[in-house]
Amino acid sequence: MGGPTGEAEWSAVDSYLEGELLGQDAALSAVARASEEAKLPPIAVSPLQGAFLHLLVRATRARRVLEVGTLGGYSTTWLARALPPSGAVVTLEIDPHHAEVARANFERAGIADRVEVRIGPAIESLEALRSEGAAPFDFVFLDADKPNNEHYLRAARALCRPGSLIVVDNVVRNGAVADPASKDASVIGSRRAVEALAETPGLLASALQTVGSKGYDGFAIALVEDPSAVA
Ligand code: SAH
Ligand code: DHB
Ligand code: MG
Repeated sequence: MGGPTGEAEWSAVDSYLEGELLGQDAALSAVARASEEAKLPPIAVSPLQGAFLHLLVRATRARRVLEVGTLGGYSTTWLARALPPSGAVVTLEIDPHHAEVARANFERAGIADRVEVRIGPAIESLEALRSEGAAPFDFVFLDADKPNNEHYLRAARALCRPGSLIVVDNVVRNGAVADPASKDASVIGSRRAVEALAETPGLLASALQTVGSKGYDGFAIALVEDPSAVA
């Protein structure tokens, strides 16, 4: 080995690690298959990424999870299965077709009682959760439209408690996040989100670059130290 690597090696290593670490899971495979058959875009987290999120939820003993961006519910299923029976995931999705595919997936996976799908623009759903006085979330996964991530981050912080974790998907975008001249709205959104992670009081953040079957990207993670801190 040695020298530069690329997509082929990253995928081969993901296959190897998946084979060794994850084993077969009929329910999760069924969610992935149904999402593919419904022609949803192939942008769900990878199996290893889903397992990683699951481990974070388990390790932090999270009971209430908030997800922004449901798609067919693949990541949602990994998150929901990490919860105790009393736990719940609230997942926000703008596309009614995606939400319908996801709800059917949750029924088949046996987790429908633990998952609430809210249809609509996430900014509005987040405002509604706030005005309803929703109980605080212990874990948040931001994975919807990237240009709104800075707003999702601020809204999510307000729905958290001290000690909650917020994970943001797709913050590296093939390295484009480091390009201040990028004209891509998703890249600009990710750069704004990184700035918001640094500037929003009460958050302690880091980010890791990732490679694998989904190419070159990364996750940001923030610990909510104070959900209502002001600068
Ligand atoms: N978390 C999923 C993937 C989500 S893909 C998984 O890993 O399995 C991003 C999703 O965000 C898409 O389903 C898209 O319809 C949804 N989305 C895009 N803009 C949105 C918005 N403004 N509000 C809520 N959801 C949105
Ligand atoms: C895209 C969105 C995602 O959430 C992701 O994980 C990968 C790709 C996209 O919109 O291209
Ligand atoms: Mg994503």
